[in-house]
Amino acid sequence: MNVIVTGAAGFIGSHVVDRLLADGHRVTGLDNFDDFYPATVKRANVAKALAHDAFELVEGDIRDAALLDELFDHARPDGVIHLAARAGVRPSLENPALYMDVNVTGTVRILEAARKLTQPPKVVYSSSSSVYGDRDTAPFRETEDVDSPISPYAASKRACELVASTYHHLYGLHITGLRFFTAYGPRNRPDLAIAKFTRMILEDQPIPMFGDGSTRRDYTYVEDIADGVVRALQRCNGLNLYNLGNSSPVVLTELIETIGKALGKTPKIDRQPLQPGDVSQTFADITRARTDLGFEPRVPFAEGIRRYVEWLRG
Ligand SMILES: NC(=O)c1ccc[n+]([C@@H]2O[C@H](COP(=O)([O-])OP(=O)(O)OC[C@H]3O[C@@H](n4cnc5c(N)ncnc54)[C@H](O)[C@@H]3O)[C@@H](O)[C@H]2O)c1
Repeated sequence: MNVIVTGAAGFIGSHVVDRLLADGHRVTGLDNFDDFYPATVKRANVAKALAHDAFELVEGDIRDAALLDELFDHARPDGVIHLAARAGVRPSLENPALYMDVNVTGTVRILEAARKLTQPPKVVYSSSSSVYGDRDTAPFRETEDVDSPISPYAASKRACELVASTYHHLYGLHITGLRFFTAYGPRNRPDLAIAKFTRMILEDQPIPMFGDGSTRRDYTYVEDIADGVVRALQRCNGLNLYNLGNSSPVVLTELIETIGKALGKTPKIDRQPLQPGDVSQTFADITRARTDLGFEPRVPFAEGIRRYVEWLRG
């Protein structure tokens, strides 16, 4: 396949690119190296892929319609994996309009470029577990009502799901949305808890623990997510939405302990109140992804953390 991957230099994107190349596909990556975290980190993410003949990286913005038309015309993709976005829940409260612009307008631009081709590509895009908002009942199923997102980031991701439905209806595009549940692993996004906590434990700094430590997240190893993304593209047909999670949530205190163990250090804790926009739990029901995609998370949490620490230590 010829595949365009947006957000190719990012955390998840770079793993998806590596996986596609390993499977023998041709990949065109698109990334604007935005300032959410340092471009040097993103350049390192794609360093290995850039040495591959079947990979080309285009630097540009998903909101640039003319660039997309040219890129799609040139690449004639069989598939598009759209992962570029402004990520992060808490920062979205500081700059909600930017999140809507990049995530929603950007997604519309990608779908426009796709539907204009005579042979439109299949499109897989990233949504998020955050669309489920703050709820007591778990695990989360795709059939549940998700119309109460509690952060601009979550609202932007839910909006992408609605836009996908519109483009399927109007143009018959085959589109699959994937609700990722907190990815972690090598190249971890530096703003996410696992990367931050690891840095702090290594520097003997106290870890800010928001709430009483009982919040839980369904941490999912990034290569398991990349596997689910590729499966979703191979089986993309009609309009679909899937949870991609580990279906085994880890409470915050256990997360901190597991990182401490992997580093061989005892973490210090600084208790803080819960942050606005944060949800108390995420927990994926992955029955649908298992059944339709053959998705199966393989890497247990402690092993994933061990691999992350190993990568970090080079
Ligand atoms: N990491 C997670 O746990 C998680 C969970 C749920 C959903 N997601 C979603 O998965 C996708 C990938 O997330 P990630 O963690 O790899 O984030 P990331 O920030 O590492 O990757 C996103 C990439 O998109 C690029 N980008 C941003 N704006 C762009 C624009 N306007 N034009 C072109 N490129 C642009 C960035 O430079 C970056 O390389 C995002 O859509 C994110 O919302 C991630």
